[in-house]
Amino acid sequence: MKGMVSAPNLPTEVSVYEVAPRDGLQNESAQVATHAKVRLIEALVDAGITRIEVGSFVASKWVPQMADADEVFRMIERRPGVTYSGLCPNARGLHRALEADVDEIAVFVSASETHNQKNVNKTIAETLSVFEAVIGPAVAQGLRVRGYVSTMWGCPYEGDVDPKRGLELARRLLGEGCYQVSLGDTIGVGTPLQTHRILELFLSEVPVEQIALHLHDTRGTALANVLVGLQMGVTTFDSSVAGLGGCPFAPGAAGNLATEDLVYTLQGMGIETGIDLDRLWQAGQVAEAIVGRELPGKVHRAGVRSLAK
Ligand code: HMG
Ligand code: MG
Repeated sequence: MKGMVSAPNLPTEVSVYEVAPRDGLQNESAQVATHAKVRLIEALVDAGITRIEVGSFVASKWVPQMADADEVFRMIERRPGVTYSGLCPNARGLHRALEADVDEIAVFVSASETHNQKNVNKTIAETLSVFEAVIGPAVAQGLRVRGYVSTMWGCPYEGDVDPKRGLELARRLLGEGCYQVSLGDTIGVGTPLQTHRILELFLSEVPVEQIALHLHDTRGTALANVLVGLQMGVTTFDSSVAGLGGCPFAPGAAGNLATEDLVYTLQGMGIETGIDLDRLWQAGQVAEAIVGRELPGKVHRAGVRSLAK
């Protein structure tokens, strides 16, 4: 592939941003008990996860599963060195996030108009106006703010999406104070050359450390896209233990890339994550127990090689 760097130039360390308690659980129709969510978060942190999205401060009538986010934040034992984040759509969400003593919030906007409207009941332009009362004020109060740009690889309603629309949004989010933008393959349609083209466009103006990849694994292409990201210098990847996940407003969005699959692959390539894979696998068992159904992660299903001795 033209412009790709060779394997020896892969990063030596990667930061994993765990989204199971938020992106993973938001799509579960049966309500998961608050104490069970807390158990999952603590199991993930025990495994060495240091960045975790604990829940969302969205409207409970839109996403009932996240109604107890404030309570989850209150109940978790905070560990030093761990960043606990909350997804936040508006100023009301920021107020809740501050009350819950989050370390970080994440705002979100889609690169396609229809998905954005289905997701937050607002146009992209309206969403950006709402963020004026969120990003700057959050930074002023000492929070780190992360931004998602969703449907970068394709929209469930509009099909193909021009990555330049996503770049404009990323520029705006970073300009307002986000420290990183996470590019979302919301419905898991991305393929490697497409990922290369999207990253090539972004890297022409955005420093690589300000870019993360948030890949859903609907069609089994997430790890292939991670490899392209690594080859192009990306060092933050979002994932969800055991492959829990989806977006309630994106039909066809299956689970996120499973954290165990990501960490297994990175470890095999000698790339450090600080995560203990055996303990992560145990956290995946907790995830499966609390949702009460089989989860799709590959390593989750097959086991970690060292456990099978
Ligand atoms: P709305 O109905 O358009 O707006 O919701 P509203 O401002 O008129 O508020 C309506 C009601 O919601 C009011 O209550 C508000 O008080 C309440 P009522 O008077 O009817 O009783 N409300 C709130 N309650 C609690 N916390 C809040 C809040 N804001 C308003 N912060 C809104 C607009 C954005 C709130 C709504 O559309 C919403 O919550 N949408 C859910 C969006 C969501 O969670 N989507 C899934 C996450 S995004 C995702 O999964 C993609 C991602 O993973 C990346 C990727 O994969 O690409 C991030
Ligand atoms: Mg997602």
